[in-house]
Amino acid sequence: EKGGYDHFMLKEIHEQPKAIVDTYRGRMLPDEGIIRMAGIDNHMNKFLNAERIIIVACGTSWHAGLVGEYLIEEFARIPVEVEYASEFRYRNPIVTSKDIVIAISQSGETADTLAAIKLAKSKGAFVFGVCNVVGSSIARETDAGAYTHAGPEIGVASTKAFTTQITVLSLIALKLASKKGELSKSDLRTYLQKMQLIPTKVEALLKIDNKVKEIAAVYKNAKNCLYLGRGFNFPVALEGALKLKEISYIHAEGYPAAEMKHGPIALIDENMPIFVIATNKGHYEKVVSNIQEIKSRAGKIIAIVTEGDTQVKEIADHVIEIPETEEAFTPLLTTIPLQLLSYHIAVMLGKNVDQPRNLAKSVTVE
Ligand code: M6R
Repeated sequence: EKGGYDHFMLKEIHEQPKAIVDTYRGRMLPDEGIIRMAGIDNHMNKFLNAERIIIVACGTSWHAGLVGEYLIEEFARIPVEVEYASEFRYRNPIVTSKDIVIAISQSGETADTLAAIKLAKSKGAFVFGVCNVVGSSIARETDAGAYTHAGPEIGVASTKAFTTQITVLSLIALKLASKKGELSKSDLRTYLQKMQLIPTKVEALLKIDNKVKEIAAVYKNAKNCLYLGRGFNFPVALEGALKLKEISYIHAEGYPAAEMKHGPIALIDENMPIFVIATNKGHYEKVVSNIQEIKSRAGKIIAIVTEGDTQVKEIADHVIEIPETEEAFTPLLTTIPLQLLSYHIAVMLGKNVDQPRNLAKSVTVE
């Protein structure tokens, strides 16, 4: 049932190229520059008239929501807020019928997310679900939605659910952008053609697994790790840290790279591995200067760079290259080595990768 893999998590990491294709298949026609999503198309006026989109979710799905915020604001120019469902539901939030709430949940059963949906509905908001499990409570409770077609995710650490959630959110952002006239037909076509290349690029990344494993072997005994990224890759830094915490029980924190100097920099010494996402677009020069700051404090730098990078290579202790793509789509690639890294570290430490202690696959209690 693990399809020849040692763990469900590894199987699911490797299923991502297919899962992403399954998620966009039938929804985008790249050469024609068309996106079809019934859940959006049937309620287009609501989306076009929305004053604000509020994304609610927990855990990894919340990280996907943050990527969604960057995508929707960048392309569709609709204001977006992202909230932990647990905070949203209890803080008497201001929600009106002019708001759209997007609830993201792999399982579709997360108690806090479900309660946030009920609250938003009671205040008149239109609620859209992004779920993986068909017919789940959240899928049923929402007014409309788009499924991720990731297939069953068994490993407690979410992997393919995350990348397929980002795929759906990318399509939503591009669709709304083109409807609003923020994106020309030819630009939409270009983006979709690049999206179509993502699964092959993920496939290529999965092949550098040995390199990631070597890095895992070097840092597996670390007590603390930092993950840094900017822009679209700031949420990926959070997600990288969560993956490591969950399955290897190593303390890790994700930060926007520029926040480092507002506190976490004090932690840096020669024992501190710092994973930095430094792809060639998205404030590259600024990330390079963040890396220099780490270097001058003797921190160990593991950088995720774009193929062909030379600048970061000179300073970092290790580099992992990702193929070139649109900046907005880089989270779909930068996430992969971080998933593999956590996986290998957890295996090397002898942890229960698929069922980490204290965690449940779906959190149906608040
Ligand atoms: O099923 P959901 O997406 O609603 O679950 C949300 C979180 O419980 C979940 O993402 C959790 O953080 C994962 N274990 C992360 O790997």
